[in-house]
Formats: sequence, C-alpha cells, structure tokens
Amino acid sequence: MTSRIKGLMRSSECGVLDKNDLGKEVTLCGWINKYRDLGGLHFVDLRDKSGLIQLSFEDYLKNGGDEGVFKEFSHETVIKAEGVIGPRPESAVNPEMKTGAIELVVKSITVLSACDRHELPFIPNSPKEATEDLRLKYRYLDLRTNRLQNILKLRSDVSSRARKALLNENFIEVETPILYKSTPEGARDYLVPSRVHPGKVYALPQSPQTLKQLLMIGGTDRYFQIAKCFRDEDLRIDRQPEFTQIDIEVSFCELEFIKNLSRMLMSSVFAIDEDQIDFQTISYKECYDLYGTDKPDTRFGLIHQNFTQLFLNSDFSVFKSIAQEGGLIKGIFLPSTTGEMSRKDIDGLVNVVKPYGGKGVAFFKVNDGEVSGGISKFISPEMLSHFMEHQESSNGIWLFSADQDSSRAHACMDAVRRHLGIKYQMHEDAYKFLWVDNFPLFDWDEETKQLIPMHHPFTMPSKENLEAFLTGKPEELKEMTADCYDVVCNGYELASGSLRIYDPKIQERMFELLGLSPEEAKEKFGFFIEALKYGTPPHGGIAFGLDRIIMLLAKSDNIKDVVAFPKTTSASDLMSDCPSQPVDGQFQELGMSVIKKD
Ligand code: AMO
Repeated sequence: MTSRIKGLMRSSECGVLDKNDLGKEVTLCGWINKYRDLGGLHFVDLRDKSGLIQLSFEDYLKNGGDEGVFKEFSHETVIKAEGVIGPRPESAVNPEMKTGAIELVVKSITVLSACDRHELPFIPNSPKEATEDLRLKYRYLDLRTNRLQNILKLRSDVSSRARKALLNENFIEVETPILYKSTPEGARDYLVPSRVHPGKVYALPQSPQTLKQLLMIGGTDRYFQIAKCFRDEDLRIDRQPEFTQIDIEVSFCELEFIKNLSRMLMSSVFAIDEDQIDFQTISYKECYDLYGTDKPDTRFGLIHQNFTQLFLNSDFSVFKSIAQEGGLIKGIFLPSTTGEMSRKDIDGLVNVVKPYGGKGVAFFKVNDGEVSGGISKFISPEMLSHFMEHQESSNGIWLFSADQDSSRAHACMDAVRRHLGIKYQMHEDAYKFLWVDNFPLFDWDEETKQLIPMHHPFTMPSKENLEAFLTGKPEELKEMTADCYDVVCNGYELASGSLRIYDPKIQERMFELLGLSPEEAKEKFGFFIEALKYGTPPHGGIAFGLDRIIMLLAKSDNIKDVVAFPKTTSASDLMSDCPSQPVDGQFQELGMSVIKKD
C-alpha cells in the first residue's frame, strides 16, 4: 500500500507488490529475513509486516556497488533498498510467495540498523520454536512473526467493527477512570497507593460496572467502551490480569433488547450474517443438565443424561447408595460409529476426571442388544431398554460419572465430554453461539454459610423472586434466579450481563444479604446507593471479553497470543521484568513499608 501522506522513507510495502508493478521504481524498507550468497550471487528476502520480497544484487554489483555491505547483512538487520521491480527468471519463480514472480533489482542499499547476530535470542519466523518464556522475554521479536502481526491486525479490525456497529445504534463511547474505588467482580483488586493521601488507595477497576450504571443515572442512555479491566485472580489459558471488555449499558431496556443487541454485535464482530447466527437460548439449569457446565461447546452432541432414578432401584450398590444419598449419576453414550474406545482409552479417563475430583468413569458396552464390560452385569434388559430409548445407534459405549456432590458429577462428565469431542474430532467448523439465561442470583459458600453473588451485587433478582428476596432468610434464597445472562461460543464464556437493581432499597437489601453491615455498605457503596435515590432509569447491560473473541477468531487456545504484551500465569511481564522493586524513596514517599510474610 502506498501512503497518501507524504514523508515516508519508503514508497511501498514489501508484500503488496506483484507483476502489475513490473518496471516500477520503488524504495523498500524492512528486516532481512534471509540472506544468501550463492557463489557471488547475492539475494535477500526483505520483510515488513505486509510480507516478503526478494532483492537481487547482480545489477548493483555490475554498476560498481560496494561489496562490503554484504558483510553487514544478517538476520533481522534493517535496511533500505532502492531499485526497479523486475521479473524473476522462470526457474526462480516461487508460486508459494505472493511476490514470487518478481524481485527488486537493487540499485542502492543502506543499512539503517544492524542486528547483532551473535546476541539474537531467536530468529522470528524460524521453524525452530523458541520456548514460550524466551518469546515473552523478547516479545518485540516474536511480534515480528506473521502470525502475531495478523492477530494484532485482526484485533484492531474487530475493535473497529464493534465500535462502528454500536455507534450506528446511537451508542456513545465514554472513557471511565482507571484510578477509582473497588468494584467487586469476584477477584482481588489491584491497588494504587495515594501519595497525597498517605495510607489510602485507589483500586484499578475490575470492570467499569458502577461507573456505567452511574452514567445511566447521569442520563447517558446508551454507553459503550472498549475498556481495560484489572483483576488479581488465578490466571488460566483464557484469563489475563488485565484484559479488555466491550462494555455496554442501556437505559429503559428489557432483557430482549440486550439479547438482540448482542446478536447484532456478534454478527458484526464475527462477520457472519445475523440470520446465520443461531443464538440458541438455554437456561442455566438446562445447560448443566445437558452439558454439566454453563459454557458448553455445542459444536458436537454427546449430551448428558440423568440416570440417578434408574440406579436407585438397581443392584449396583455403589451407584445405588450415591442415588440414595441425594447424589447425581450422569451418563454419555458414544456410538461406535463415532468412536471405538479401547481398554486403554477407557482406563485413561481416570486422568481426565482427576483434576475435577473424580475417582473414575464407570462404563458398559452395547453390541446388538448385548451388554459387556465394566458394570454390565448390573444392567438388566429393562435398564438397557431405558438406556437405549433415545439413541439412534444401537452399538456403542455408555460412560458414567456419579458423585454425592452433584457439581463434581457435572464437572467430571463435562470433562469426559470435552475429551471425547477432541479425541474423535467431533467439532463442527462453525461458531455456535448460546444465550444462557436464568442464572442463579447467588452462590452459597458452605464454609462461611454466606451468600455470594453469582454475577455481581448489582444484578436484579427475577421478578417472581423479588418478594422472597426482600423478606426471606439467606439460606432460603440459594436457588433463586436472576435477570442475568451469558453469551457462550464454542465452549468459551464470551460475555456476561444482567438487568440491574435500580431501587436503592433492593440494593441495600442485597448488601445486607451478602453480609455487609449498614456501616460497611455505606463506606464501600454509600455514594452509589445515594445516586440510586435521585431518579434512576431501569437499565441493564453486558460486557464481552474482547480477548476471548479474538482467541476464537484467531483459532488460538492461548490468550497470550492475542495480547500485544501479555503477562505470564504468575502475572509477570518477562520483557520488562515487572512487577519490580520500587525505586529508592518511592515507598517512603507513599508512606508505605513492606511487611515480610513468613
Ligand atoms: P464478567 O466478570 O463476567 O462481567 O466479565 C465479562 C467478560 O469479560 C471476560 N473476562 C476476562 N477475559 C480475560 N481475562 C480475564 N481475567 C477475564 N475476566 C472476565 C469474559 C467475561 O464473560 N461488569 C460485568 C458485566 C456486566 O454485568 O455488564 C462483568 O465484568 O469474556
């Protein structure tokens, strides 16, 4: 691409040139991707973020060009080359390369910046993989790879598509502060000490939750922001300590609006026609019943079935007692047309469920009405007909997860399902979106016997639960549902949101149920409860994890791939070596000292 704006050292990018440019005089700048000296014939593959082009030096030498320059050529040295685009000899045409039919016939060459070849920690784009830690330490070198440059471009395009889609719907983008007060989203806060107010801190926002609600109170009825969020929590393959949300809030909206808006946004972001997006609605409970998780990958079947009742009356004492004690027994049927499991495969399932607290996976096989293996001796013909009632295929294997703790039975069966999906390559090549609704309002902490918010404390209880919410005892409210929803795609939770409490009395009651004394509630959220008293529009919203959207689009299962400068799972930046010791006097200035932990 040539630039409309004058003043660049180069007239074109490398990777965009082709046969149509034959005869053109161009100046190119970039990195030496490869240098070859074939007995006096010198070639360079020059690279910039658009791609590669070959430089040839025959004419340069014929015209008395300085041969000494070749000594300075090494991987990753930055050069400027001027010359004419010429055809490659027929034998040297490379159909794999976009610029494979042409080359730059160099007239003059300048070394702009040398790369120390002896110190270079790894060669970008080299087939030899460097370790992840090394690539993170030298992230700027890894960023030179096509893969990461393409992801950065994708990320920029997706943000811009999201912005455009929301601006088209009359949303306005508002920046909210980073130095703020704690906003609870279930993680620890990152704190910033104040120099001016010794002993006091700001908290980096876990999300702009209260701020976007305050914007609604302030009359900004359609807000969005591509917002940085900060959470000190256990990091995983899809979590970073700082990440980005497409954060949205709307006044005077019903649930339906947020759902339709989300579908429209996903259509723009994933570049799929809206009518091609199946935004299947499924309740939280149904999600657990069918998949054992609230973020199922629905690109394949293998749904769970509940056999607790069936085993209650069986001779299989282990399952019978689990059923009697109020546990859960779930099963999955893998038809032999989808996959045959060897004894080793079946035994290996122990390791699949172990991380979720499972001790094993029971099974039996069915072949033309005959059962064999595992727990088959406990499966009566009546039970078998029950098992096979809804199966299209009559041959296959039943796998079971049973536990007194139903959440463990769900989690283990979910793990088995995901494992089989990968092992037998069952995933359809598609984006399968789900709208999961009717979430519980609370989780229950068994240790402290306390309610904790399932989403966050600003979420509205469902209408039918409101009376009980206002008057019931905490332990009676464990099961109640909320006006809360998630968007899930291919096994990832892409977004969460809810309709919000807009009545200060309901908000105060929420804090009370969460165990906050009136003083604590006032200290932490007094300003917010007060704001609710001065005329608050009913409102609701949602926040999409931008990083996770990019992971899906880039087909990466590692969030670090989609962040320009990511942190490790211990929240460190290996490149700048942070977090780091404050420089001399900083602690003192802030009135802080370090207490050594044992
Ligand atoms: P929630 O906490 O569910 O909701 O976050 C919304 C979405 O943000 C993404 N996400 C993350 N992405 C990367 N790393 C993380 N550590 C991380 N944590 C969350 C997920 C998630 O679905 N204020 C509410 C939203 C609302 O109610 O409007 C909130 O932040 O994709």
